[in-house]
Amino acid sequence: MIAAITMPRLLYIGGGAVAEVTTALARLGATRPLIVTDRFMESSGILAKVTDRLAAAGIPWQVFADTVPDPTSAVVEAGVAVLRAGTYDCLVAVGGGSPIDTAKAISVLAANGGHMRDYKVPNEIPRQGLPLIAIPTTAGTGSEVTRFTVITDSERDEKMLIMGLACCPAAAIVDYELTLTMPWRLTADTGLDSLTHAIEAYVSRRASPFTDGVARSAMGLIARHIRAACAEPDNRSAREAMMLGATQAGMAFSNASVCLVHGMSRPIGAFFHVPHGLSNAMLLPEITAFSAPAALVRYADCARAMGIAAEGEGNQAAVARLLDELRALNQDLKVPTPKAYGIDERRYQELLPVMASQALASGSPGNNPRVPSADEIIDLYKRVYA
Ligand SMILES: [Fe+2]
Repeated sequence: MIAAITMPRLLYIGGGAVAEVTTALARLGATRPLIVTDRFMESSGILAKVTDRLAAAGIPWQVFADTVPDPTSAVVEAGVAVLRAGTYDCLVAVGGGSPIDTAKAISVLAANGGHMRDYKVPNEIPRQGLPLIAIPTTAGTGSEVTRFTVITDSERDEKMLIMGLACCPAAAIVDYELTLTMPWRLTADTGLDSLTHAIEAYVSRRASPFTDGVARSAMGLIARHIRAACAEPDNRSAREAMMLGATQAGMAFSNASVCLVHGMSRPIGAFFHVPHGLSNAMLLPEITAFSAPAALVRYADCARAMGIAAEGEGNQAAVARLLDELRALNQDLKVPTPKAYGIDERRYQELLPVMASQALASGSPGNNPRVPSADEIIDLYKRVYA
């Protein structure tokens, strides 16, 4: 088997790495960046850690700070208008998954024209756009190293997956110090998202020895440090481990794909505006229980990588520990059920067929060890509602 691996050309990883933004620009031969970020990055002073460096190096920049959580095609179009109004030669994204995903989409749309939905999977992206330097401020989406972006179609309320080399950042600056101020809930949600990436990449039908290695490492780092990173925001070694784990999980799932959890999570996010990591976590234990019989050894390996099953322990016992730990994590990190989150039961029931068909259309369920029918997906949605 030949595995095709996509990754940024340049990675800076470590505390204080944000200072390397000017080096990264120079190495990419770029001199006129448009920064894509959000209002919180501006007001919290995190953006200044980037712009202070640019100012010191005499590099001019402009800021597009209108990105929103669950980025929409309307915001991407506004960003493209700003990009076209100037003479930029690269994009720098500063923030969580949303600004990074928005910057990717701006690059794609500016280079290719048309509408964002024209590039939704399985469609190809014909032209590469401006290079992107991604600077994540959460340990979560892994978007800084992936070839995906997820954009909500403003007119249809659909979370679209857009995929290709054109979506992969040219460079990523992974600096855990930027996450030290992340609030508890965000640390939990983004950490659970990256754990889901690592597990799904490992059990995916498209996994390879390369992705297995980074996925196992990511699972070990995240499972061992997520509770400490939440409970002690200043715990630098926990933050560092979570950041490295999130980036490795990003490398794993970018090249092995995600599976049923992400496939079913996107419609919950699109219709009920549940944060991405949280909707994943709502689904993860139940979907693991559904899928595990089809790939017992792989799921048992996950338990071992997470440090919750002994090396010599049998597969069945290890998978039982995995299910226990995923449920315990949801309890400890206060992940509500969709019902407890406040999702209206009637609306949820009504939307089940649409959610199931959107989940299937994303292609992610096809990578799952056990590929579900639409009816099985509906049944799983019902089971997690509670
Ligand atoms: Fe995710």
